[in-house]
Amino acid sequence: MIRVCADLDALSYAAAELFATAARRAVAARGRFAVALAGGETPRHTYEILAASPFREELPWQQIHIFWGDERCVPSDDPRSNALMARRALLDHVPVPAAQIHAISCGDDPQRSAVDYEQLLRTFFVSSEPRFDLVFLGLGDDGHTASLFPGSDALAEKKLWTAVTSKSGEEFSRVTLTLPCLNRALQVVFLVVGATKARVLHAVLAEGPETLPLPARLIKPTDGQLVWLVDGAAAGSPRPPGPCPF
Ligand code: 6PG
Repeated sequence: MIRVCADLDALSYAAAELFATAARRAVAARGRFAVALAGGETPRHTYEILAASPFREELPWQQIHIFWGDERCVPSDDPRSNALMARRALLDHVPVPAAQIHAISCGDDPQRSAVDYEQLLRTFFVSSEPRFDLVFLGLGDDGHTASLFPGSDALAEKKLWTAVTSKSGEEFSRVTLTLPCLNRALQVVFLVVGATKARVLHAVLAEGPETLPLPARLIKPTDGQLVWLVDGAAAGSPRPPGPCPF
């Protein structure tokens, strides 16, 4: 499903609504909601909306468990940290119990952190497969998502749920969820904003074979829903102001 929204504001409200609906449904069905947050810049406004009324008052934060789709292996107070962005925009403002916020801290030993995170996920999900109720993902202009970059060995991982990767030009490693983990989610929602993403979004959504597989194209929930929330600029077709249409 692709929803083309007028702008970042409309897209972020639509993403917050999807989060709220998924949270209420999961808590009603299983007594808890497990969500993997995206990093980067695009989701910030969605998190800020969730941290404000009415979501701050209305959502079952005590039953919400926060994970991340990926993290940069930098100190926890480094502005590049995905967890720090989410704490400042959302988690410092809502009553999610600290023990239910599962940040990936991989500054010292990325490999060890990836193994530990996988163990945490296997313990949390108990069953033999990870079933996030919701995964938020962004789209990089090279077609990466989470920290799965074009040409990465991690794209071939079929069993493990986490991997250590790196992005050329960055001095730090990253820890990312892998396709076997991401594709078991009940719902995956991409958030894509801005004209700079138009070319890669078109390439990712295009049908047919491609030379170097764009990682975002490999996100195909095996038993879940895939939603693209994009703004008019990224879609290459401006939309009138107002709420994001279904
Ligand atoms: C990261 C993100 C990454 C991000 C995309 C889009 O840690 O960098 O997980 O996958 O979602 O690069 O980033 P923007 O939203 O900043 O464009």
